[in-house]
Amino acid sequence: MGHLNISFARQMARLRRIAAHPRRYLRLTPKIALQRATRLFAATSFRLEPQMDIHPLSLWHDPAFTGQFGGFNLPGEPPRTIVDLQPWDTVRRDMLVLLLRDVIERRVPGDIAELGVYKGLTAKLIHHYAPERTLHLYDTFQGFDTRDVVREAAVRGRKPAQNQFSDTTPEAVLRYINPKAGVHVHPGVFPESVPESEHDLRYCFVHLDADLYAPIMAGLDYFYPRMERAAFIVVHDFNAWPGARRAVMEFFAGKPEIPVPMPDHSGSAVIRRA
Ligand SMILES: C[S@@+](CC[C@H](N)C(=O)[O-])C[C@H]1O[C@@H](n2cnc3c(N)ncnc32)[C@H](O)[C@@H]1O
Repeated sequence: MGHLNISFARQMARLRRIAAHPRRYLRLTPKIALQRATRLFAATSFRLEPQMDIHPLSLWHDPAFTGQFGGFNLPGEPPRTIVDLQPWDTVRRDMLVLLLRDVIERRVPGDIAELGVYKGLTAKLIHHYAPERTLHLYDTFQGFDTRDVVREAAVRGRKPAQNQFSDTTPEAVLRYINPKAGVHVHPGVFPESVPESEHDLRYCFVHLDADLYAPIMAGLDYFYPRMERAAFIVVHDFNAWPGARRAVMEFFAGKPEIPVPMPDHSGSAVIRRA
C-alpha cells in the first residue's frame, strides 16, 4: 500500500509540473518525437539512434559539451577524419576513435601497429584519424598460416576454415588506405615478419585482429613489452573467436592489467598498459 501511495504521489507531482509548465512538457518537436519513438525499439535489436551523443547527427547532441571537450576531436584542434567501418558496428568505430583520441590527448609517445589487416578497413580508420603517428601493418596477405590453424584445432577442438582472408594484397591495402605518409606494410607470418630494425620501436596503440590463438598470443608476447605506459592494446573478437579470447585470458593472468570487455559487434577486449 505504501508503495502504491508513493507511486500515486509521484504521478500527481508530475501532473502538477505539466499543468504549471504545459509548453515545456507537452511540446512535441520532430526531434522529441523521434527520441520518444526509440523506446518502441528498446527490446529489439533495431536501433533508431546508432550514434553517440557527441556525434553531431545524434538526437541528443549537445554542441556546448562537444565545444568544450572536443567530442571525437581534441578541443581547440581542427576536426580529424573519421572513416566508417561496417555500418552495423558504429560502437567499434567510436571505441577505436576515442581510444586513439585518448592516447593523443595524453601525449603517449610511440608508433601504432595492427596485426591482422586483411583489406585494411580498420587500418584506414586508424591512419586517417592519427596520421601523425607511424602505422605498421602486419599480415600474411594470404590468410591463416597452416601452423596456426593446426594449433587452433588443438585449442578449440575443431579447425577454422583456412581459405579465408587470402583475397587481398599489400598494394591493394595501400591503395585503399591512400595514406598521407608513414604507413609501413610487413607481409609474412607474424612474428617472423617483424624486421630486426624495428625491434627497438615503442608503441602507443596496437590493434590485434588475427582471430586465432597462436597469432594473438604472438602479438601479445611481442608488443606488450614494447608498449608505453598508458598505451592501449585492443584485441578484436574477444567475444567471438575462442582462440583469441583464450590467448588474452592466459596472457594477462598474473599481469597487473585486466582486460576490459567491450560491447562492439564481435566484442573487443581493451587493455591499458600499466
Ligand atoms: C579478421 S582479418 C583482419 C580484419 C581487419 N583488421 C579489418 O579491419 O578488416 C584477420 C587477418 O589476420 C591475418 N593473420 C592471421 N594470422 C596471422 C599471422 N600469424 N601472421 C600474419 N597475419 C595473420 C589473416 O591473414 C587475416 O587477414
